[in-house]
Amino acid sequence: MTDFDAVVHGATELVVGPDESGRGLETVADGALAVVDGSVAAVGPTDEVIREYPPENAASAVDASGRAVLPGFVDPHTHALFAGDRSDEFAAKLRGKSYQDILAEGGGILRTVRAVRDADDETLLSNLLGHLDTMLAHGTTTVEVKSGYGLDTETELRMLRVIDRADDAHPVDVVPTFMGAHAVPEGRDADAYADEVVDEQLPAVESQGIAEFCDVFCEEGVFSVAQSRRVLEAGRDAGLTPKVHAEELAHVGGTQLAADLGAASADHLLHATDDDIGALVEAGVTPVLLPGTAFGLGAEYADAAAFLDAGAPAAVATDFNPNCHSHSVGFALSLSCVEMGLTPAEALIAGTHNAALALDRSDGLGTLRAGAPGDALVLDAPTHVHVPYQYGTNVVDTVLKGGAVVAAGGTPTYQSSGP
Ligand code: NIG
Ligand code: FE
Repeated sequence: MTDFDAVVHGATELVVGPDESGRGLETVADGALAVVDGSVAAVGPTDEVIREYPPENAASAVDASGRAVLPGFVDPHTHALFAGDRSDEFAAKLRGKSYQDILAEGGGILRTVRAVRDADDETLLSNLLGHLDTMLAHGTTTVEVKSGYGLDTETELRMLRVIDRADDAHPVDVVPTFMGAHAVPEGRDADAYADEVVDEQLPAVESQGIAEFCDVFCEEGVFSVAQSRRVLEAGRDAGLTPKVHAEELAHVGGTQLAADLGAASADHLLHATDDDIGALVEAGVTPVLLPGTAFGLGAEYADAAAFLDAGAPAAVATDFNPNCHSHSVGFALSLSCVEMGLTPAEALIAGTHNAALALDRSDGLGTLRAGAPGDALVLDAPTHVHVPYQYGTNVVDTVLKGGAVVAAGGTPTYQSSGP
């Protein structure tokens, strides 16, 4: 007979969450964790925890001796639902072609839009489930996924329904974001298309109740600040919390817009100024930094230390999409240390606790404090430092989602209910 979901015990280092400074970690040596009804019930020294939660009474008991235990990664910015293959654009970019040139020629996002419109729902679902499997094996237990490769009401709704089905079918929690304003469809005027998003797409999304956030690509040559504001305000009226792709390729003012609207997050921020950072802090907007995108574009990285020094709880995400084909939060954290100057502890907080803030979650997600979701990783390594240190290697061995073991030995172990 089992009394409770799981106990993980004997961890060399158990990371509970950020310490009071927000930049260091609260850890337990020889630590243990018990999960009851999906949530963390106890965390502390192994002898204390197993006295109350004996391994023999647990549905899953994991001996973590010699290993580190961390909160599951939270990835708060992806475009993980797509079809088609853009690897040739990677090669073209290496030869010097810019992201904007590719988009202007009908490639980039517009090419993925054609592939998604042509794909049936089952293909889209199986693509997304495959990506979720890889993410889970790399330690992601919650991921945000955006629509935005439909750019018409029918396909945007189709994408959101597939995202919803994937959330039901897969152990990873999938947070849905509507991003009808991801690009201007071919042959359309940006202003007229923004009106379509407001007048047609958003009411349809609202009536189905299948999105939590509304995001806009506020960028030179894409949507202006005024157009982005129109879309995000209408999204807010439809019950969707704003998010903004801001200052990615140029400085256009998306960060100030995010602050004005009290957005959940402002993302990318490669060209954010000190004033922008101050505005985010004042408004309580979480900055989301995406170093994998800068890596792939060969661009300058965001100044992560400037955000942390100003008191902003910077999050790091993968931005997984056909232009930034990395499922791995660990790789993003490696880049955030080497290229953006974060310490391994700051990076880990950015990929867990702060990432949960970017999704407006206040249930302890991204920590292993009592009451938090029982989402935990057991590394094939003794400390959290090995996550950024072993770049290009998956150091995640075992993944617990809500106290159930869903990956072991770096491989998913659950039974998928997908196609
Ligand atoms: O966050 N910037 C806009 N959207 C994505 C890229 C999507 C794509 O190229 O397909 C991003 O980088
Ligand atoms: Fe993005």
